[in-house]
Amino acid sequence: MASVKIENVTKKFGNVVAVKDLSLEINEGEFMVFLGPSGCGKTTMLRIIAGLEAPTEGKIYIGDKDVTNLTPKQRNIAMVFQSYSLYPHLSAYDNIAFPLRIAREKKDDIKKRVIETAELLSIEDLLHKRPRELSGGQSQRVAVGRAIVREPTLFLFDEPLSNLDAKLRVQMRAELAHLHNELGVTSVYVTHDQVEAMTLGQRIAVLKDGLLHQVGKPMEVYKDPNNAFVASFLGSPPMNLLETSKFDFLSKYGKDRILGIRPEDIEIADTGIETTLNVAEVIGGEIILYLKLNGETITIKIDSLEESRLKPGNKFNLKFEEDKIYLFNADTGERIRG
Ligand SMILES: Nc1ncnc2c1ncn2[C@@H]1O[C@H](COP(=O)(O)OP(=O)(O)O)[C@@H](O)[C@H]1O
Ligand SMILES: [Mg+2]
Repeated sequence: MASVKIENVTKKFGNVVAVKDLSLEINEGEFMVFLGPSGCGKTTMLRIIAGLEAPTEGKIYIGDKDVTNLTPKQRNIAMVFQSYSLYPHLSAYDNIAFPLRIAREKKDDIKKRVIETAELLSIEDLLHKRPRELSGGQSQRVAVGRAIVREPTLFLFDEPLSNLDAKLRVQMRAELAHLHNELGVTSVYVTHDQVEAMTLGQRIAVLKDGLLHQVGKPMEVYKDPNNAFVASFLGSPPMNLLETSKFDFLSKYGKDRILGIRPEDIEIADTGIETTLNVAEVIGGEIILYLKLNGETITIKIDSLEESRLKPGNKFNLKFEEDKIYLFNADTGERIRG
């Protein structure tokens, strides 16, 4: 186990700046999630921590040690990728044992550690199988097993669940959280999925265009976003962002502002802002309404509504909860507080 310090890291690929002057400290034993859209530099940053990529500028520390010029092997890091990359000709047992054999561990020790790891991941019954005989979820468990069997000081995960179907993803998410509770190994987990980030991360680092926009506990970042991008990236459906200049009823909030309000913080009232229903989505215990106003869409989330009111074209009066409103600078997206 170790802490990680990323110090002013920049990474350029020719003209592309994949990571821009990123600094971040990850505590010993912490589960840190890098969250951001595709292309924002998550994988690049993870590969720099792993030593698979050298930063153009900046330094990486693991514990107190500057590892910037060390090889991946010298860093004692385990990485789990989106693709399972198991050795197809080896059984699950031999896949998990592989890193221990490379490290020339004793045969009895290898057996003991592989069995312990398999028990932790509930895959004892699968150890004799080859990768092609395993399901996606089973393969990913074996890949995780191969990563943890070496007892690394740091786990790096790059979108490890994105190839799995929705149900399995939820299950594996819970299992990874459990695994982190059991082992307590410092982990950095990359994803573009905000639900994964919110549920797994002890802290979330939100990235866009190679820049770190915000870092904090999931609910802190959700409730207190620094800018319109972070505000809209967390939460589903995303926060409504309305340009105050486009709506008369928003003029009291000032010009050149973006008003943000989450779909669950808008109420249907008898009087208020008049909108027209475009589409209604009934999803189990919640209903999402897409309403039209001045050609813009306002999304609201409610628990229930009579079915007769869910017809497109129906009128709805809306009320925004005043204390749930966020304001952002329309040019920069920066939050205007107070
Ligand atoms: N080896 C590379 N050569 C050139 N450009 C790269 C390379 N790796 C990544 N990039 C670019 O760097 C940016 C960040 O990529 P990446 O770190 O893979 O993002 P993410 O994992 O968030 O989707 C993208 O614009 C991508 O095209
Ligand atoms: Mg990536």
